[in-house]
Amino acid sequence: MLGVALVLHVLATVVWVGGMFFAHQCLRPAAVAVLEPPHRLRLWRDTFGHFFPWVWACVVVILGTGLWMMFRSFGGFQAPPYVHVMFGVGLLMMAIFMHVFFAPYRRLIRAVEAQDWQAGGRALAQIRTLVGINLVLGLTVTAVAVGGPHYLA
Ligand code: HEM
Repeated sequence: MLGVALVLHVLATVVWVGGMFFAHQCLRPAAVAVLEPPHRLRLWRDTFGHFFPWVWACVVVILGTGLWMMFRSFGGFQAPPYVHVMFGVGLLMMAIFMHVFFAPYRRLIRAVEAQDWQAGGRALAQIRTLVGINLVLGLTVTAVAVGGPHYLA
């Protein structure tokens, strides 16, 4: 069971962090270069509409399997420091994602419906900043999780 939990945990982090990397580092500059604002904002609204349900699923899987492994392997909060770092930064990433989902993403949807491209651009800029922060945190947590048993245990 521990092996299954670890595999699900890592797969969910790959989907979430890999998706953010692709969106932020590859799709974003291409969309800026190729598309005018109305098409670009519609593309992002639809892209997030496909990606965010996956992120919700990843959040549930990461938190569920992570806490389960923490109690099963380490008896809870006496886990080694790298697990505490993972837990703390993981919760911060989840809070940032939920803020993106309930605030600027909602504003982006409303702006696209109203064809208010300026408001849409502002909402998209906020999402870009927050996803950029979460991407850095996600890569850092992955490095801590994998290197932790060797350097931070
Ligand atoms: C939010 C709550 C989280 C908890 C409670 C948690 C807990 C854990 C635990 C207990 C392990 C097993 C460690 C071991 O047996 O040595 C683990 C492994 C791992 N976690 Fe997390 N985690 C969380 C979030 C995250 C996040 C957000 C990421 C990356 C974005 C992440 C990436 C990983 C990776 C890559 C491993 C595998 C490390 C390895 O075996 O080399 N975790 N996690």
